[in-house]
Amino acid sequence: MARPKRVGILTAGGDSPGLNAAIRGFGKAAIGAHGMQLFGFRDGFRGLADDRSVKLDSSALAGILTIGGTILGTSRDKPHRMVVNGAVVDRTEDIVRTYRRHKLDALVCIGGNGTAKNSLRLVEAGLNVVMLPKTIDNDIAETDTSIGFATALEIATEAIDRLHSTAHSHHRIILAEVMGHRAGWLTLAAGIAGGADVILIPEIPYRIEAVVAAIRRRTASGTNFSIVAVAEGARDIDAAAHYRALQARRRAAPRGLERDAVEAELASFDSDHTGHSLRLAGKLEALTGLETRVSILGYVQRGGTPSPIDRVLAARLGNAGADLVAQGTFGVMVAAAGDGTRTVPLEVVGGQLKTVPLDHPLVATARNVGTCLGD
Ligand code: F6P
Repeated sequence: MARPKRVGILTAGGDSPGLNAAIRGFGKAAIGAHGMQLFGFRDGFRGLADDRSVKLDSSALAGILTIGGTILGTSRDKPHRMVVNGAVVDRTEDIVRTYRRHKLDALVCIGGNGTAKNSLRLVEAGLNVVMLPKTIDNDIAETDTSIGFATALEIATEAIDRLHSTAHSHHRIILAEVMGHRAGWLTLAAGIAGGADVILIPEIPYRIEAVVAAIRRRTASGTNFSIVAVAEGARDIDAAAHYRALQARRRAAPRGLERDAVEAELASFDSDHTGHSLRLAGKLEALTGLETRVSILGYVQRGGTPSPIDRVLAARLGNAGADLVAQGTFGVMVAAAGDGTRTVPLEVVGGQLKTVPLDHPLVATARNVGTCLGD
């Protein structure tokens, strides 16, 4: 009789609600339906490189379905660029050694876009990898949705609902800063669900005049408060043009100091979310004469109990992942497709970003219900 398959599992990148549900969904199917043995690795690829593992048996998977975060811990470490004692080191070989030491037949990586790229690197290093998509940003290519998005949407929508009553009472503009530094899915959906008056997303660079005009129209019709749902990565047309120029410079720059400098500038641009929202609020207050406040929803959107939709999604993707490992299908992501799943080669997913297309039905929906998108 063949020995039971030995499978490693890890969570990588930013956490999202439903990671434990995915570990459980995969694990219960792998152990119960396919007779496999499961080993968790802590803190993403770092725990794999350091060989920090934990045996995951049925009892370790019990009681975790509804818990937020990840029982395994996570990190944004990349296999080929990990900081060790202050130096950046390629630890791919350490990872391969851990995989072989544990006699693993497969590795399941639950993560987002970075994880897709890193999983592909490990496939190229000879490992059998299956990836499950998670991110509250919903920006992973080739999958309808990702684990955590539905919960974050509920949280962001509830926040916008609550901001409405206080904005209304104080006759204020309130900016709700929603996560999403490069894709506006969460902001767009929460903005529509919460009835935001203005929705600003990275895909549609805005003109401040258009936002001010929309708010003034509301004031003129007797409504002297407004809710602006703004994605972390939303920028006005000038900043967006500057960003595109930086990206072009990075593509053209040779490796070395010049590219490092451009990358540092891009990184500081990428992380200046709060600064951007505060500056935008200041401008709106000055231009409209309405008191303006900012509410940064931040990590609240990533924490806590997953919604039923995310639990079901995590169970569904996890189950399909266990089937793939049992069949010996590797180098793929399990994508959500309608009510089912489909397998997508990691080469197709890695390095892609699913942004909101300008002709997406949600964009048209927002416009048609009178929401200003800033353009
Ligand atoms: O998980 C994706 C995301 O939520 C982005 O929307 C956000 O900009 C980013 O993570 C911030 O995460 P961290 O602070 O963990 O790097």
